[in-house]
Amino acid sequence: MKILAIETSCDETAICLIEASGTQDREFRGAILGDALVSQAATHAEFGGVFPNVAKREHQIALVPLLRHVLIEAKLLKSGKSDISHLPRILEREGALRRELEEFLINAENPAIDAIAVTHGPGLEPALWVGINFARALSVSWNIPLVAVNHMEGHLLMPLFDVGTPQHHSNILPPSPPLRRTGKNIGIKMRHVDFPLLALLISGGHTELVLSERIGMYEILGRTRDDAVGEAYDKVARLLGLPYPGGPEISRLSEEAREEHEASLHGVSLPRPMINDPSLDFSFAGLKTAVRRIVERSAPKEADVKAIAREFEDAVAEVLVKKTVRALEERGAQSVAIGGGVSSNTNTRRELAKALESMNVPLFAPPPELATDNALMIALAGYFRARQQQFADAETLHADGNLSL
Ligand code: KG4
Ligand code: ZN
Repeated sequence: MKILAIETSCDETAICLIEASGTQDREFRGAILGDALVSQAATHAEFGGVFPNVAKREHQIALVPLLRHVLIEAKLLKSGKSDISHLPRILEREGALRRELEEFLINAENPAIDAIAVTHGPGLEPALWVGINFARALSVSWNIPLVAVNHMEGHLLMPLFDVGTPQHHSNILPPSPPLRRTGKNIGIKMRHVDFPLLALLISGGHTELVLSERIGMYEILGRTRDDAVGEAYDKVARLLGLPYPGGPEISRLSEEAREEHEASLHGVSLPRPMINDPSLDFSFAGLKTAVRRIVERSAPKEADVKAIAREFEDAVAEVLVKKTVRALEERGAQSVAIGGGVSSNTNTRRELAKALESMNVPLFAPPPELATDNALMIALAGYFRARQQQFADAETLHADGNLSL
């Protein structure tokens, strides 16, 4: 089965085409036939955060070039003509995208693809709508069924797969837009994962502990009551004068502080919010407030910024590890997975791995470049839904910014 996947929930525009067969229990086999991603991070960095309407504009610009690239890479672009009569209606609110897609489709024949998967939430609604309307337009023009994917299911599934080494990872295509490619004909294998699986999903918009009996079945055990972990990282980075996105920058400074044996924390001490609360919920807004108070009290020097970054990371990791371990003790699971942008954080991985090792529970984590948003994870989630014939209606599919697993 060939699945074309589209991801536009936040500030990454990504398209991936995979071929897959088998199920979770029976010989899953897959390959990436084409894959391309454009990150808007540099654009948003100027504003210090993601602006939905800027994201919407950037997605519109990126989608057709990415689609062309992926279809060429997969050798599925054939000259011919597609039906474009529905485009004015479906892409009514995306004029720039409509014109480009029309131009593309009058020279491109219906490719041999079995389903088009698209993220329909959670995320920024203006951004989600661009991907959804693009997918709807392709689905109708090419008469290919549509699959609606929950972005968080993508993050949850990604760590369960082994993706072969990219063949031309550094072969970055022309400077603008900045394009990252995974490469083509890369094998995807499913790791041996014993279920039930406990997943800790930590991203820019979410912090969730999810129990899964099998792919497609999810129970949320705990979630953040205010800011998501990634959001806290980004806000604290901003307070410390570090660029957006804040996660990688705080991570880098903290690791430096650890290497420099920065034992003295310059008197910095941050709370561990809700660490002893009996629920499996989280709260990270207090950490940001605590950092703000420190910054307001005295403008921190470089060494202090490092110390604060490190203490913040330690506080976050301690809470995440403690709650994950408690969820395991309370509910039991055979395996643990972490996913989402923050799961690429070195310290969080290290601390969680340490705790789980002593409990003899395996930890599955995605490679850092697949921890952040990408379309491969949407293709994988879409594949399992397509196999179950869980198709979406192209006429009624809509964005749901708060979609839950
Ligand atoms: O999953 P993701 O790419 O997008 C959402 O679905 O939200 O996650 C993005 C988040 C950002 O908040 C970013 O600061 C954070 O992931 N992040 C990190 C690291 N890399 C990205 N946080 C901590 N350490 C990192 N190395
Ligand atoms: Zn994400």
